[in-house]
Order: sequence, then C-alpha cells, then structure tokens
Amino acid sequence: MYQDEFRRSIDHPEAFWAEQAKRIPWFTPPTTILEYDEANHARWFVDGELNICHAALDHHVEQGRGEQPALYWDSPVTDSKRTITYAELRDQVARFAGALRDLGVEKGDRVVIYMPMVPEALVAMYACARLGAVHSVVFGGFAPHELAVRIEDAEPKVVIAASCGVEGDRVLPYKPIIDAAIEQSRYKPEACVILQREQHIAELGAAIDHDWSTLVERAAPAACVPVKGSDPLYILYTSGTTGKPKGVVRDTGGYAVALAYSMDTIYDVAPGEVFFSASDVGWVVGHSYIVYAPLLRGATTVVYEGKPVKTPDAGAFWRLISEYRVKSFFTAPTAFRAIKKEDPDAKLMAQYDISCLKALFLAGERLDPPTFHWLDDLLTVPVIDHWWQTETGWPIAANLHGLEPMPTKAGSATVPVPGFDVQILDRAGEPSGAMEQGSVVIKQPLPPGCLAGIWRDPKRFHSAYMAAFPGYYLTGDGGYFDEDGYLFIMGRTDDVINIAGHRLSTGEMEEVVGAHPAVAECAVIGIHDALKGQLPVGLVIPKDGFEGDEVTLENELIGLVREKIGPIACFKQVLVVDRLPKTRSGKILRKLLRNIADGQEFGVPSTIDDPASLQDVHEAMKERAVGAADEARQV
Ligand code: COA
Ligand code: AMP
Repeated sequence: MYQDEFRRSIDHPEAFWAEQAKRIPWFTPPTTILEYDEANHARWFVDGELNICHAALDHHVEQGRGEQPALYWDSPVTDSKRTITYAELRDQVARFAGALRDLGVEKGDRVVIYMPMVPEALVAMYACARLGAVHSVVFGGFAPHELAVRIEDAEPKVVIAASCGVEGDRVLPYKPIIDAAIEQSRYKPEACVILQREQHIAELGAAIDHDWSTLVERAAPAACVPVKGSDPLYILYTSGTTGKPKGVVRDTGGYAVALAYSMDTIYDVAPGEVFFSASDVGWVVGHSYIVYAPLLRGATTVVYEGKPVKTPDAGAFWRLISEYRVKSFFTAPTAFRAIKKEDPDAKLMAQYDISCLKALFLAGERLDPPTFHWLDDLLTVPVIDHWWQTETGWPIAANLHGLEPMPTKAGSATVPVPGFDVQILDRAGEPSGAMEQGSVVIKQPLPPGCLAGIWRDPKRFHSAYMAAFPGYYLTGDGGYFDEDGYLFIMGRTDDVINIAGHRLSTGEMEEVVGAHPAVAECAVIGIHDALKGQLPVGLVIPKDGFEGDEVTLENELIGLVREKIGPIACFKQVLVVDRLPKTRSGKILRKLLRNIADGQEFGVPSTIDDPASLQDVHEAMKERAVGAADEARQV
C-alpha cells in the first residue's frame, strides 16, 4: 500500500495531489494543480481559492462540530486550564480579526506575533489568516535583537504580543523586549497589541500601544477573506548559515492539503480525536501540528504551557495524555531525555491511564537509539521517529502509521513520505548506493506544503537550496538509505546545530562573538550533549595586546550571545586559545574541532597549516572539560 501510494505520488504528482486536494473545503477548487515559476520552482493549486481559517474553524462549525472542543489549554505554570469549542474559537478569531482590520490590517499585510503558549496565540494566527494577512511568529526565547531583525525584514503593520511569558517559576515581561526590538528596527510598525496576562501587567505608554481586550470589545467580527492557493499564509524565520535568519514563506493551499493528508496517513488522527504536540507556536512543529493540522482535520489540539519536567514533575506528559485522552502525541527526543533523567524507570507513568495513546511521534532532531529503546521498552504503542524541517513544513520521512505501519529500525526515520522523492547524492552529484552516506536531497518538484521561497530574497533561496545540485532541493542534512530503503538522517552538513530540538546557527553566534572588540578570531562549534543533543562552544583568539582577564572576556561573550540571540542559544562555554587549527588557505578546521570535543579519534590533515595548534586546542579542551575531549586520541 505504501509502495503504491508513494509511486503514484512520484510518477503522477498532479493526479495524486489533485485527489488529495479534495480533503479541503475550497471556495473555488483549483483547476491548475502544479505549475512552475520563472525559477522553475513548483507552485501548487495557484488558481484555487480558500481561507485556511474557514477550512479549520468555520467549516467544522457549519458541519456540526461547533460544540466539540477545538483546543484544551493546560498551563501548570499559571495553574490554569481552559477548553475552547470550535464555535467559541471561531467567534474569538472573527472578533480579533475585526480588531486587526480596525487597525488597518488587510490581505497581504504582515503581522509579527511574539506570544507564549496561550490560546490567544492561536487566535492571533487564525485572525491574520482570516484576513489574508501574513503572520510571522517569533519564538519567545529570542532576544530583542533577533526580534528586531525579523521586524525589519517582514515589515509588519502590527506587532501582537502578550504582556509576559512564564518559564517554570519565572515571569518574563515581554513588553520591554518588544519596545527594545522596535527601537532597534529601522522599520517601525503602526501598532502594537498587548494581551495583558494577570501574572504581569505591561505598561501601555506608547502611542502605538493597544490593549487586546479593549480592541476586541469594540470590534465587529470579520468574515474570511478568500485567498489564492499560492498566496502566503506565513513567514517563519529559521537559522541559516549566516547571521541573518531565513524567512521561510509558506503558501496557503498546498500547506492545507499537505497537512490534511498527513493527519490521516502519518498521524492517523480522525475528526473528533485528540492530538497533542508538545512544541511551541514559535517553531514549525507548532505552526503545523499545534495550530493548523489538528483543526483542519476536525480534531482537538492540546496547547501546553509548561515543560516536560519540573512543571511540576517528569509525569507531566503522561498526565496530559491521560487527562485529555490523547490519541497521538508528538514531541522532541530531548524532552524524553529530560524525563528519563528525572524518572529513569518511568514510575510516574504508572500513575496515569494512558491506554488512549496509540502512537508516539518524535522529531526536531534524530531520535538517538538509547532514547528510542527506552521508549520502545516502556510503551506498547509504536515509537515513530520522523524527519522534517521548517522549510518542508511537514514530514519528509516517516513510518506511515495511518497508511501502512512498518517495522521500526532504531536510528531511522523509516521511509520517504509520498510526495518526497528523497535521494542521496555524493559530492559530484552522483547517486549514492545503499549504505553510502551523502547529501540528502529531494528531487523537484517538492510536494505541496513546502517553502514557496525566502521572503523577498529569491537569490538566497536559490543559493541556499537549489544551486548545489540543479533539479534537487538541498536539505542540508547528511544521511543514507539502507538495503531495505530505510532512511537514516545523520546530522547537518552545514553550520546549523540543533539544541534541545531548536535550530540555531553557529555562524550567527560567530558573528556576535567576533564583533566583541577584544576578539581577533573565533569559531563556534556544536558539540554532543547527552540531554540537549548539541551545545555550542566558542573558541576565541584575543587580539594582539589583549591584557584583560580571560574569564571576564569569556563571561562577556556569553552575555553578548544571550543578549543578541537569546537564552535559547544555550551559549555557556567559551575557551580563550592562542591559535586555531586552520588549512593553509586560512579555513578553520571546524569538523576536526568537533571531533576532538566529542572525544573521537582524529588525525592531522595534510592541509593543516600549523599542526601544533591541534594539540594546543586539544589540551585546552581537556583542561576545561569540554564535551568528551579527554577521550579524544590522535591517530
Ligand atoms: N521564552 C523565554 N525563554 C525561554 C523560552 C521561552 N519560550 N524557552 C526557553 N527559554 C530559556 C530557558 O528559560 C533557558 O534559560 P536559562 O538559560 O535562563 O535557564 C534557556 O532558554 C534554554 O532553554 P531550554 O533549552 O528549553 O532549556 P531548559 O533547561 O529550560 O529545558 C528541556 C530543557 C529539554 C526540558 C527543554 O529544552 C525542552 O522541553 N525541549 C523540548 C523542545 C521542543 O519541544 N522542541 C520542539 C521541536 S519539535
Ligand atoms: P527545524 O527546521 O528547526 O525543524 O530543524 C530541522 C533540522 O532538524 C533538520 O534539517 C535535521 O537536521 C533536524 N531533524 C529534525 N527532525 C529530525 C529527525 N527525525 N532525524 C534527524 N534529524 C532531524
């Protein structure tokens, strides 16, 4: 079954996706299924007309789901819970859309959203979609500078934020972050809407400030504005290899179709059932599988404001699964590593009836075999690793649980999802054989749901994804197929690292560190971490004549990355060194540095300029207990 479906999707993509498009209540069904733009990039359903808010909310109310819960909000950090039905959510969204319209927001305008995991984050996103406006959600763990960069690039008419986020037992005021970001940005939004939370009331002093509830009280509900299938729904910024994040643009029609297809064939969730994705609305997983997909499917989504551990304990996920009768659960492996650390025998799980759970999905980073085995031994349901990225918006490879479940293999994301013609190419662009590692690419056309481009930067879109192997999309991941056609994703081939399931750029951290006046040169590398998967480490050469205190410099650099990028970068280790291993052409040998830090055997490359630098760095890493450097051995 899987093989047939996969082959049809690759051999006859138009017919295949025309069929899947019937899952969506279009205002005008598409007649053009696939066409190519001037850069030869696939565009799906360009002449179809829809509104994703209508498809996810109004449509279900019209079909008699008005009284069904659309979302369960569960917030142990504020000791709150709320159930919102489809009819209530539709009404709240329509009213808030009316409020945005009163502020001048129209189809095509951008709106930046900086909100924690509260139902109003979904209300804000759907309200934008209702008006045909393009939202850009920024994760709360990013610092003002990162927010400013996104505001400057997206040029939003309005910024929507909450007065605060709550991280464990800490209340984090958001208004100062918003104010600082707007101050830093050369582009100034016309309005800033603040949702006041009782944990912290923000001062709304500026002329552009508006109070969410006052606006809503005055507003009349807005109707859904029809948009074309290819019109943008959102921009989601993600880390690339340089300091400037990439604004991934998602279209509306292809995304809706892909998500609806995935809820059925991958996640096996039917209308009326409950889906829980423990991520954040600031990440792609949140966009796709907290906000849009469950509701497109007529299911109920769980919105969780808390952590896997300590809010209040490592039984939090089991409680949520049991309490809301969750059928399919999705999180990042790092969350289970945190749980396993606190509750290795899963004693807390035994306190809850989780018989409702039928499958566990993991993504955001590779599901490492020890975590897979821990979960597989613990649970009686399939433990499914699936691979995807912000750019694709939905899984590229998975075990098709809703179509034809397959035996799992530890360390593998199983097989390509229908629509994704995944191939492995060697450096010369030749296909690699089974078990041969290479660049993981996707042959054009990318299926519906994948990125439509980089916001206002077609050149970067081409150079980042399309230029390396013409006719193929470059995923940036390395990996291989085994003899059974199972795909193994082994990690990034670029400067992107994955910290606790969050994607960050070491290149960006290097730009921040390198801008310190005392720094002559630096390298930031991602090293293995047992809990978070990877952690960044900075290696820094001070400028000649530097006479300051090394520890002070290290702390300043740590503070600088926290201030510029945010706490989420987890940049907590810096080493001041005299020299760095480089090639004769001056390129820092980062991979070698990573290998040493990870405790792997390493050789001295023939291209190295100063072989002794390698020993120096190795010694420094050992002394400062960086990663497993003391286990590394020169061969
Ligand atoms: N707003 C503000 N700050 C935030 C934040 C947010 N939304 N999210 C994280 N931070 C801060 C944290 O408070 C922490 O700050 P600190 O250095 O002052 O302590 C820092 O960013 C790092 O956070 P995190 O990586 O989340 O570390 P943690 O130790 O608090 O928690 C885990 C560790 C594993 C429990 C946590 O990372 C986790 O739940 N990961 C799963 C991630 C996930 O679901 N990803 C989705 C991808 S599918
Ligand atoms: P993001 O865009 O934040 O979702 O990060 C995408 C990147 O995370 C991918 O390019 C991979 O490097 C990594 N990733 C996500 N899911 C998996 C997985 N299941 N297996 C291996 N790597 C993954």
